Amino acid sequence: MKRNVILIGTFALGALSLVGQAPGPGGQHGGMGMGGMHGRMMGALPEVMESGTNPVTPAKVDLGRMLFYETRLSAGRDISCNSCHDLARYGVDGRPVSTGHRGQQGTRNSPTVYNAAGHIAQFWDGRAADVEEQAKGPVMNPAEMAMPAEAEVVQKLRAIPGYAAAFRRAFPETAEPVTFDNMALAIGAFERKLVTPSRWDRFLAGDQNAVTAEEMSGHHEFMHSGCATCHNGTYVGGRMFQKLGAEKPWPDASDQGRFAVTKLSSDRMVFKVPSLRNVEKTGPYFHDGKVATLEEAIRLMGEHQLNTQLSGQQVQKIASWLKTLTGEIPREYVRPPKLPE
Ligand code: HEC
Ligand code: HEC
Repeated sequence: MKRNVILIGTFALGALSLVGQAPGPGGQHGGMGMGGMHGRMMGALPEVMESGTNPVTPAKVDLGRMLFYETRLSAGRDISCNSCHDLARYGVDGRPVSTGHRGQQGTRNSPTVYNAAGHIAQFWDGRAADVEEQAKGPVMNPAEMAMPAEAEVVQKLRAIPGYAAAFRRAFPETAEPVTFDNMALAIGAFERKLVTPSRWDRFLAGDQNAVTAEEMSGHHEFMHSGCATCHNGTYVGGRMFQKLGAEKPWPDASDQGRFAVTKLSSDRMVFKVPSLRNVEKTGPYFHDGKVATLEEAIRLMGEHQLNTQLSGQQVQKIASWLKTLTGEIPREYVRPPKLPE
């Protein structure tokens, strides 16, 4: 216990030095206890990842949930968002890269949709601003759901009476509610409540017993090794773009990340810093899914991002803290709905 107290004191220092960089919702935890301190550095999850432009309403969420599971949004009537972002499996497919229309392999690993709406941008390279914009991509992507034209998606949905009614409920103000944009707004609204509070959030809320001394020493290691210069805030990542290979070049440079979006040479090998929430469950790792274990991912981060050879014990400790970020899947919320006819 004494050891625990000493460690907590040290994290507070680590946390303080980063407070200025972290505009997280620290205030909501109240008090100046350890929870408040970590709150500013790391931040507990909100109940809804709000959007200024797409208010989350129950009717939109109900529609979005159906669309998320809807295979009729794909050309082969066999793939839905859930095929690659299995909500029962922490929002991933567990494969290095996903399989889409007619068995085509993509080039990137499918990131989890849980807690994603809170990131600064969507995709590994940040090419979509938010989940609403993102949701339009896969339906039309020839390697994913492969619909030939937006008009065809809309036509399909309009022809299903249950959907016409659900769109009317979700967008009551609109004369013609079944549109491609509204489809994306509904899916986005559903995604905005895909949050997975974990033991770490309980700790941030003041429950000192929510994490063990061993896990806390892993947090200490994470802070002091420098991981939190990139992986910080409520989502322990998801808030900035950084170069993969910041200190030592990443061996595989075939995917240049954000460079393809901005064409700026300074964006070569730059990727969104991923959130580490649920990272225990979302392997394989990195944009290409080429690293199978969390321990190897941590070791590589030390080597390439921090120029540090982490010992096996340091890696284990960090992994043990990262596992406190494994949250609860909101089973009721994500239960597959009956799809309209
Ligand atoms: C064939 C597999 C596949 C299907 C189907 C699919 N996705 Fe994805 N999704 C991916 C992959 C792979 C990426 C990463 C692509 C990239 O970064 O370039 C991704 C990225 C995302 C992201 C970004 C998450 C983040 O952290 O940046 C969200 C959100 C998302 N998908 C939601 C959806 C929704 C909603 C649907 C259905 C409309 C859908 N996906 C359908 C494979 C798929
Ligand atoms: C300089 C910024 C930076 C630092 C420091 C950093 N990371 Fe990362 N991290 C990234 C970026 C960028 C990625 C995404 C790389 C990719 O796949 O393209 C990433 C990816 C990861 C992943 C894989 C996540 C996934 O979903 O595939 C893990 C795990 C991880 N980091 C853990 C750590 C740990 C632990 C440390 C400290 C030892 C650390 N990182 C230090 C920027 C950083």
